[in-house]
Amino acid sequence: MGGAVSAGEDNDDLIDNLKEAKYIRSEQVEQAFRAVDRGDYYLDTYRENAYKDLAWKNGNLHLSAPCIYSEVMEALTLRQGLSFLNLGSGTGYLSTMVGLILGPFGVNHGVELHKDVVEYAKERLEIFIKNSDSFDKFEFCEPKFVVGNCLEIASDSHQYDRIYCGAGVQKDHENYMKIMLKVGGILVVPIEDQLTQITRTGQSSWESKDILAVSFAPLVQQNRADCSKPETVELPPVTIRSLQDLSRIYIRRALRSLIDEASPATQRVPHKRRRRRCRRGRISTYVFVGNQLIPQPMESEEEDRVEQEIKEEVEEEDEEKEGSEEQPLKPEELRINLLREKILSLPLPDALKAYLLHYREK
Ligand SMILES: C[S@@+](CC[C@H](N)C(=O)[O-])C[C@H]1O[C@@H](n2cnc3c(N)ncnc32)[C@H](O)[C@@H]1O
Repeated sequence: MGGAVSAGEDNDDLIDNLKEAKYIRSEQVEQAFRAVDRGDYYLDTYRENAYKDLAWKNGNLHLSAPCIYSEVMEALTLRQGLSFLNLGSGTGYLSTMVGLILGPFGVNHGVELHKDVVEYAKERLEIFIKNSDSFDKFEFCEPKFVVGNCLEIASDSHQYDRIYCGAGVQKDHENYMKIMLKVGGILVVPIEDQLTQITRTGQSSWESKDILAVSFAPLVQQNRADCSKPETVELPPVTIRSLQDLSRIYIRRALRSLIDEASPATQRVPHKRRRRRCRRGRISTYVFVGNQLIPQPMESEEEDRVEQEIKEEVEEEDEEKEGSEEQPLKPEELRINLLREKILSLPLPDALKAYLLHYREK
């Protein structure tokens, strides 16, 4: 599934393409996608394919296509403080993006069938927290993953505001997932080749809306071969943050707002549109046929149209630039992590600074 948008050269390029094709429509979803590099969830050998709108599978590792994740993130209508359950949480890519929107007082749980995949997801999460440039720009709700079959979740488990299932669901299991929702909650799920958004409108009422035609690998069913009682899956507990943790959240928040007040422009995401537009004439669209990736060259009429569009946009942007008094930021200014600099400059013992920095390596 996928291949609906042009291939990108890097994560920002991919997001530009998803935006242009209207898969990404809201600013908060765009920011979360830009903050988490899809390439970091691929094995190194395959990383160059991460910015194509294609699903990826290697052993038990499996990522859906970016156009699907965009639709899912939009359909979940996430906001700060909500609780989220990811059924078939895989590499943790989606859960990490969701965590950036939920913020520090949300709940972010995932259930994944394969133990090796959960270990992989935990490694990727640690790398994201330790090294990602984006981590300091957001308040994060760290995902917690458990191993197990998501069709065997204990029946007395807590309910969630938002649920996503990353594998195809049989009609028989629809109710099982619907009752895990809180009233007012939203479930996004592929059922019978339709990505569907289901809203719980009351104790025993739900409304469904088809979002997109999709093709998902089915959820692995419970193992009933030996007729033994299935093992129930315990979801992670919902914990209350410690006072120490809360202090870090509020100190970081206060420092961030001081920085924003002092230099709002430095926090702005760099504008990449022009660079991408100039390249667009050369990119092909890829279509997935069976297992093969087929590049679709542009028709010459289409190419002429794109060239004309680029010319007009470049002229427009040049005019905009001439009229603007704002000085463009230098690349080295954009790379500075102001929150880090600020924390390091505080008159505090090193151990406390390290704690405030989440022990991040850069
Ligand atoms: C397309 S992948 C989802 C990838 C995930 N969204 C991510 O961000 O990496 C589907 C996942 O569902 C898992 N899965 C399939 N059946 C399952 C089940 N019954 N219980 C739990 N996980 C299951 C697969 O192992 C796979 O990792």
